[in-house]
Amino acid sequence: MSVSGEAAAVPVAAEDYARFCDFFYRRTGIQLGAGKRYFVDRRLADRMEATGLPSLRGYLLKLRYDDAEGAELQQLINALTVNETYFYREEYQLRALSAEIMPELAARHAGAPLRIWSLPCSTGEEPYSIALHLTANWTGLETVDVEIVGSDIDTAVLARARAGLYGARAVQHLPPDLLQRHFVRAGEAWRISAALRGAVRFTTANLHDAAAMRRHRGLYDVIFCRNLLIYFDDVSRRTAAEMLYEALRPGGFVCLGHSESMSRMSSLFTVRKLAHAIVHQRPAA
Ligand SMILES: C[S@@+](CC[C@H](N)C(=O)[O-])C[C@H]1O[C@@H](n2cnc3c(N)ncnc32)[C@H](O)[C@@H]1O
Repeated sequence: MSVSGEAAAVPVAAEDYARFCDFFYRRTGIQLGAGKRYFVDRRLADRMEATGLPSLRGYLLKLRYDDAEGAELQQLINALTVNETYFYREEYQLRALSAEIMPELAARHAGAPLRIWSLPCSTGEEPYSIALHLTANWTGLETVDVEIVGSDIDTAVLARARAGLYGARAVQHLPPDLLQRHFVRAGEAWRISAALRGAVRFTTANLHDAAAMRRHRGLYDVIFCRNLLIYFDDVSRRTAAEMLYEALRPGGFVCLGHSESMSRMSSLFTVRKLAHAIVHQRPAA
């Protein structure tokens, strides 16, 4: 252990590193690449120390052949994902949701419940923002049943999402009246109300796992898939676009992060230029 509490990075041959990146890519779709080397080395050293395996080759063997439950792979994924997020991130899409997408969907599926998926949801700020924005801005909530699901590949962030406890930085872009109404102070932090916590269901999901994604086929009316595909390469992005398409009901919508472009990934979707945001729609059947 170093003084900082992190294990010291062990020297790793380029060939072993490339083999590790390939393994990780196949499981997650995430391209670790040479530019991430320092970040990856530190976290790998921590996992190797925790498992008592001094070489990357030995650690990879464990992951491949001695991790039947996938427990170590999960620890590794939790260590290597980038979970940056905050409330009301890219708020213009929330405005599009409340003012344009939900009224359109409610008119089309009168009486039926509508389902929104935040994938990936990280520590929960995105699905809670969706719930908060709809509560404050869409009167349709009084008559339409809306189910909000938050999912992520990282089980540690999901535990934090369920707890709903946030620091000042996470809530800094929230309108103050919403912060006062839906959060209570917990020391230096803010805890989101039990009602809001009850409004979002959190589950594990891996957008890169085609077999597991089949369970979500045709379930959702809107998917927020923001700031994940930036970590994928062209091949895993194309597969991801197909997974999102399959997970949507016909006529359903996808919102991507502002630096992510659907046209470069797939031609399955129709571009919808709404007043507040450009979104992507699975054509109606
Ligand atoms: C930068 S956060 C984005 C969170 C939120 N959507 C936002 O825009 O603020 C990226 C999240 O993607 C998750 N992630 C990475 N690979 C994934 C995969 N294959 N399937 C599902 N989630 C994944 C990470 O665990 C991380 O929490």
